[in-house]
Amino acid sequence: MGVIIIVKIFITQETRKKWGMLNTIEKLNVVAEHPAVGAKVTGVDLRKPLSEKLAQLIREIFFRYSVLCFPGQKINDEDQARFAALFGFVDRNDRSKGDPDNKQSKRGVMYVSNIREEGKLIGVLPDGEMHFHSDGAHREKPYRATTLFAIEIPITGGETKFAGMAAAYDALEGGLRSRLDKLEARHVFNYNKTTRGEMRHDNDVAHAVHPLVIIHPNSGRKSLYLSRLMTSNIVGMEHEESEQLLNHLFDHCEKTQFVYEHKWAPGDLMIWDNRSVNHARNDFPSNQRRLLRRYTVSDPDN
Ligand code: OGA
Ligand code: MN
Repeated sequence: MGVIIIVKIFITQETRKKWGMLNTIEKLNVVAEHPAVGAKVTGVDLRKPLSEKLAQLIREIFFRYSVLCFPGQKINDEDQARFAALFGFVDRNDRSKGDPDNKQSKRGVMYVSNIREEGKLIGVLPDGEMHFHSDGAHREKPYRATTLFAIEIPITGGETKFAGMAAAYDALEGGLRSRLDKLEARHVFNYNKTTRGEMRHDNDVAHAVHPLVIIHPNSGRKSLYLSRLMTSNIVGMEHEESEQLLNHLFDHCEKTQFVYEHKWAPGDLMIWDNRSVNHARNDFPSNQRRLLRRYTVSDPDN
């Protein structure tokens, strides 16, 4: 299922002299990870700024596969922020609120980690399983994409699962699809709650309403936009009927035929499209360290 894409980059005589570079061909290897979603991309070093041509190619690959993994990267904060910015707006504002000990203050970076220093968590989303969700679904303008870079990874567990919501939509029976096309759902988010059972659904938690089926602005494909963790109810529907339909759809889109499960290795940089995939996390032992660096990508007008 591998696709090899060769990009020719033409550089001027002057640049060539400056970089001492004779070889002007870069090779990107793209290998699909799963029929529904996900591809591995090698042949690019993300420590360096990319040419506009290569950046455009990577965006096209992203819109096609929705989840990309770039293994073996040695990137720092800056490199990851620059990569994320290829896809939209990256918030670089300081969020330390004056706390000099806050490791997450610098230029919008966040850590996903269970590591505690002096009893204090150094990151967010620390422990265990997380149900399927889409980052920012509780906001008026959800995040376009999320990037995660693996620094420390447990030996067992902690895999991230990605559900292809366009393939899940396409596989539904036609009558149900056109019924869903007309519906809207409400999504909620409670800080650090990771399962549907724990999630509070009242009006005091952050929430937003979105269409149940959304059209991707780049690929034009329709996707189911709902998730076990965040979707509280279908607007205007009786509680029981809404729960029944939602649970049917949660079970449907979490089937293995739509889900790529990613086993992390340090150096993996992943990006996923929150408009066409849901993601979830498997449980992992709490005594094993897990540390990933996270940048989200928003719409530029956010
Ligand atoms: C996230 C997230 C999953 C993981 O960063 O938004 O859901 O595997 N992470 O840690
Ligand atoms: Mn998430």
